[in-house]
Amino acid sequence: MPDVTKLASPLDVGSVRIRNRVFLAPMSGITDEPFRQRAYAHGAGLVVSEMVASGELAKGRAGCDLRIRHSGLPVHMVQLAGREAVHMAEGARIAAGEGADIIDINMGCPAKKVTGGYAGSALMLDLDHALSLIDAVVGAVEVPVTVKMRLGWDENALNAPTLAHRAEQAGVRMVTVHGRTRCQFYQGKADWRAIARIKDAVSIPVVANGDVGSPAEAADILDQSGADAVMIGRAHYGAPWMAGSIATTAAGNRASGIPENPAAMADYIVSHYEDMLTLYGVESGLRQARKHLGWYLDRHAAGVAEDRRKAILTSFEPAVVIDLLREVFSGAPEANLRSAA
Ligand SMILES: Cc1cc2nc3c(=O)[nH]c(=O)nc-3n(C[C@H](O)[C@H](O)[C@H](O)COP(=O)(O)O)c2cc1C
Repeated sequence: MPDVTKLASPLDVGSVRIRNRVFLAPMSGITDEPFRQRAYAHGAGLVVSEMVASGELAKGRAGCDLRIRHSGLPVHMVQLAGREAVHMAEGARIAAGEGADIIDINMGCPAKKVTGGYAGSALMLDLDHALSLIDAVVGAVEVPVTVKMRLGWDENALNAPTLAHRAEQAGVRMVTVHGRTRCQFYQGKADWRAIARIKDAVSIPVVANGDVGSPAEAADILDQSGADAVMIGRAHYGAPWMAGSIATTAAGNRASGIPENPAAMADYIVSHYEDMLTLYGVESGLRQARKHLGWYLDRHAAGVAEDRRKAILTSFEPAVVIDLLREVFSGAPEANLRSAA
């Protein structure tokens, strides 16, 4: 197994010290405040808000406030998406006003609704325009600015090294690279070695991302890319402790707070569920929580009867959902509770 110990050391992003090198990736609709609180409590080095559309934020649209508000964690990192320099600058000022310690710019999102507006990874099609957004954000705030990107738009345009280099010259303090092109969406396997070309192009920290879900993979992606840190997204489904567990394992410690028996798992899931109802209100919260409940069930109670699963994922009565969850886990054999990493 490759050396994992380097994952445990701190990393400086401009003036901000990050406690270790295993980060939770921003995931829209998933890494909201309750999720980030949990991931950080388990030991993730850094957590990032879901992306917030800078145009909507600048116009004060509903919902943006929840995405950018300070969650009380030592490092508050907000990710902005958008294509208008004026909105990006204003969004950055608003986020910094909410206490953001780091502002990240999204240049990696492949979704048509985002790239169709020439934001997200579409910015990699026009680096001059991308740089105008970086200049606007760097000029608007005192806090470190970072950029998250893909390898390029498609395999004929692998321009992440150029973007990263120009971003560094413009004052960006760290870049994260998802080892796929935009046109790959999430297909195939992330190319960890290709991230080395970005690492070679800059002297700021590079964070490698894509398809990591274990301590061995976290160490491998750093070995293959030469990157300084790793960012993990989908492996957190049903396991908010994934990054923390990898970081604490790397430090030679036992991961804390991971539910270790069925009753503790039920308590954990119920508490996550209740936090979401509190944040969004019952009507919206119970809908938004369903994907998490589905992942928890798939991962930790794979044998649950289909009718129970369906009832948990469709009921509009939180009390019923909570009772059913407790019932499912009271009957789950401990063997169903897989360890985190
Ligand atoms: C549902 C979902 C939502 C995402 N939302 C964002 C986002 O808001 N901002 C962003 O930069 N990347 C977003 N991503 C991309 C992830 O941050 C990450 O780059 C990608 O999932 C690859 O990492 P993984 O293989 O560890 O999941 C999202 C990915 C998923 C699956």
